[in-house]
Amino acid sequence: MSLRILVTGGAGFIGSAFVRYLLSQKSITVLNLDKLTYASDLRTLESVQDNPCYAFRKIDICDTAAVRREFEDFQPDAVVHLAAETHVDRSIDGPADFVHTNVVGTCSLLQVANDYWSNLTGDRQRNFRFHHVSTDEVFGSLGETGAFDETSPYQPNSPYAASKAAADHFVLSWHRTYGLPVIISNCSNNYGPYQFPEKLIPLMIVRAVDGKDLPIYGTGENVRDWLYVDDHVDALLTILTRGRVGETYNIGGNAEARNIDIVRSLCRHLDTAAPSTKPTGGYCDLITFVDDRPGHDFRYAMDTGKIQRELGWQPRHTLETGLELTVAWYLDHEDWWRPFLQNTYDGERLGRRRGQ
Ligand code: NAD
Ligand code: TYD
Repeated sequence: MSLRILVTGGAGFIGSAFVRYLLSQKSITVLNLDKLTYASDLRTLESVQDNPCYAFRKIDICDTAAVRREFEDFQPDAVVHLAAETHVDRSIDGPADFVHTNVVGTCSLLQVANDYWSNLTGDRQRNFRFHHVSTDEVFGSLGETGAFDETSPYQPNSPYAASKAAADHFVLSWHRTYGLPVIISNCSNNYGPYQFPEKLIPLMIVRAVDGKDLPIYGTGENVRDWLYVDDHVDALLTILTRGRVGETYNIGGNAEARNIDIVRSLCRHLDTAAPSTKPTGGYCDLITFVDDRPGHDFRYAMDTGKIQRELGWQPRHTLETGLELTVAWYLDHEDWWRPFLQNTYDGERLGRRRGQ
């Protein structure tokens, strides 16, 4: 069976991994719509750019007319929607872009998808899917124990989380109101190759390589559940092809860690893999504690029982192997990340309260 999948945000970190993964499967054709914001990079797609089953269009999902034309031309069997503004610290500095793309853009895409789907017939209409890729952050913050499952209430705290929560609600409302066959996945923190060096793991690696301090917000005891990006994209295709319409699925790595432990682990891998630039006492000497992030969620953890039971999915990478692979990848691909530091984002602190 051949599948035509329209991906939004396919030039970003997870989106590009998903596009590469889709094109490594048989009989999948991909159209990638991406606005190419600061967080995107088409070099992530060089390995597939000449693939006859792949096409790219530089399009803002908020441009309803342009998106509508692409639906008509491409005739997708499914939409996987990843396009978003994604960095919590940037959402503290400038929430408007998050509302615009994540909320207004998602609603515009839903409208176009719904009009298109309504005009399909038979199996093509029955089998169509709109898959929204979302985050565990919509559920808010946990204390020391417990985990989010698919019935956890929405309690978003950051503007980023609130915008994704709003998008999730709109996606489900299009299902309940118009019958659009939607699925939502809520995933924990991803890491791995090609992540823009503003998020914790790549930022710490590139700063360490340059001998800069490694800023840990607050006490470093905040906990995240980490998932290697290749495991996420495998979960996305599993859910898209076998998940139940109208359902939400939690995805996570079953790999909780405190931020301070993540950064220490990265430093240990760097001590081994990049000893030539190692500070005297090792890379851990660069760790510095800085003012906390405003509204900093204490802990995220995912109960992934539903996706395991219903779809047999579980992550393949452990946190330690994933971190080792990631450090090795960033050390080998300085030509990929160095230009960002020079041209786009210099790695300095974002997301402090006004006046700080
Ligand atoms: P990213 O920031 O690396 O990439 C986002 C992509 O979306 C970029 O290529 C950007 O150009 C594109 N984009 C932004 N605004 C757009 C617009 N208006 N129109 C078209 N394209 C636009 O993000 P990511 O980390 O790859 O995240 C992808 C998705 O997964 C997001 O929806 C995010 O909320 C979700 N998610 C991310 C994580 C994570 O840890 N990174 C975890 C769970 C869920
Ligand atoms: P981040 O990668 O921004 O992801 P999210 O906020 O979506 O979970 O941050 C991960 C954790 O690392 C979060 O608790 C904030 C913390 N953090 C730091 O301590 N220092 C930093 O420089 C950054 C970017 C994040």
